[in-house]
Amino acid sequence: MWLSNSSVGRKLVMAVTGACLVLFVTFHCLMNAVAICWPAAYNSICEFLGANWYALIASAGLALLILIHIIYAVMLTLQNRKARGSERYAISHKPASVEWSSQNMLVLGIVILAFLVVHLIQFWAKMQLQEIRGAVETLPPAAGTLFIQKAFETSWTLIVYGIGFAALWFHLNHGFWSMFQSAGWNNSDWMPRLKKIGCWWSTIVVALFFAQGIVFTVKAHEKYYLTNETLREQYKDMIVPMIEKDFGPDAAQVAMQVKMMPYGQVSQMMRQNEAGLRQALEQVPTSDFQEQMKQNPQLKEQVEMAQKQYEVFENVVKLLDYLESSDDQPNMELPAGATGHSH
Ligand code: HEM
Repeated sequence: MWLSNSSVGRKLVMAVTGACLVLFVTFHCLMNAVAICWPAAYNSICEFLGANWYALIASAGLALLILIHIIYAVMLTLQNRKARGSERYAISHKPASVEWSSQNMLVLGIVILAFLVVHLIQFWAKMQLQEIRGAVETLPPAAGTLFIQKAFETSWTLIVYGIGFAALWFHLNHGFWSMFQSAGWNNSDWMPRLKKIGCWWSTIVVALFFAQGIVFTVKAHEKYYLTNETLREQYKDMIVPMIEKDFGPDAAQVAMQVKMMPYGQVSQMMRQNEAGLRQALEQVPTSDFQEQMKQNPQLKEQVEMAQKQYEVFENVVKLLDYLESSDDQPNMELPAGATGHSH
């Protein structure tokens, strides 16, 4: 096929996939800006872009673009090496005009890929992938700001991201005008302009990413995403699907209570329920109780239901523990044993 067999075809594929990735990265940094200006709106967007069919198609398309971009990058590099190999005695010096980044696009791409692996483990695997798997984890998949909190409260994250952003700047800066060149737009009037536009574009995008990384780190260290009242109300609403999923026949009633009550009251209710059920279930392993269960199948069913509900409460309390881990004042109204810090 012409697109993979000819050098021009391969360059064109690099240019088209590269252009799409430039647009994605630009969109992504604008999305992150929402997390800074309106964190609650950011979470609503994360919910909208969860494991819905349109988000899944977009993610699969993006993965395909990245994959094609990488495969063709390797093919082009090998082809260039081969070509240079036969001329290596003819060309002893690299032309001065060939910039450092153009010589190192593959290496820069590998650094970005390494950053991407860390990044996807920190975010995508715990958000969209968690939803696809239907797994129950402590943090709800739509709570984008909680994953920002978790990622950026660790100091090494900013260092790793800083390296990734720097590599991205060089890669974008060169890639931008190079994709126009590959598409045949190689005239002497436009090339300097395209280089300028590319430099501005990549500088603005990467500067935004840097600024976001710093703001997220500062806010995460202040525990902003855990303690902000509006965000807590939003996290509280994310408990509802956890209840609706696994709670059994009482789900609708408990979900309604959670929706109606403010965060503080829900926290108290959940902790009390978890402690109460924990205490009740403690007697299940005793031989007396086991005997009763053998004679009374209804009791066995009740215990199984209680165990399911306990698992939900336990998970919700883990989330509450994380949210309240930096609160100065423990909730004084809670009964002893219901403080939930047993995990
Ligand atoms: C401060 C910097 C960044 C933050 C806070 C951030 C945050 C996020 C978040 C929250 C997701 C969520 C995905 C989901 O809903 O599953 C995500 C996905 C992703 N990010 Fe970033 N990101 C940052 C920088 C970058 C950079 C520089 C790149 C590329 C070089 C990048 C590439 C991606 C990709 C490829 C995905 C997967 C998208 C998908 O599955 O549709 N991110 N990021």
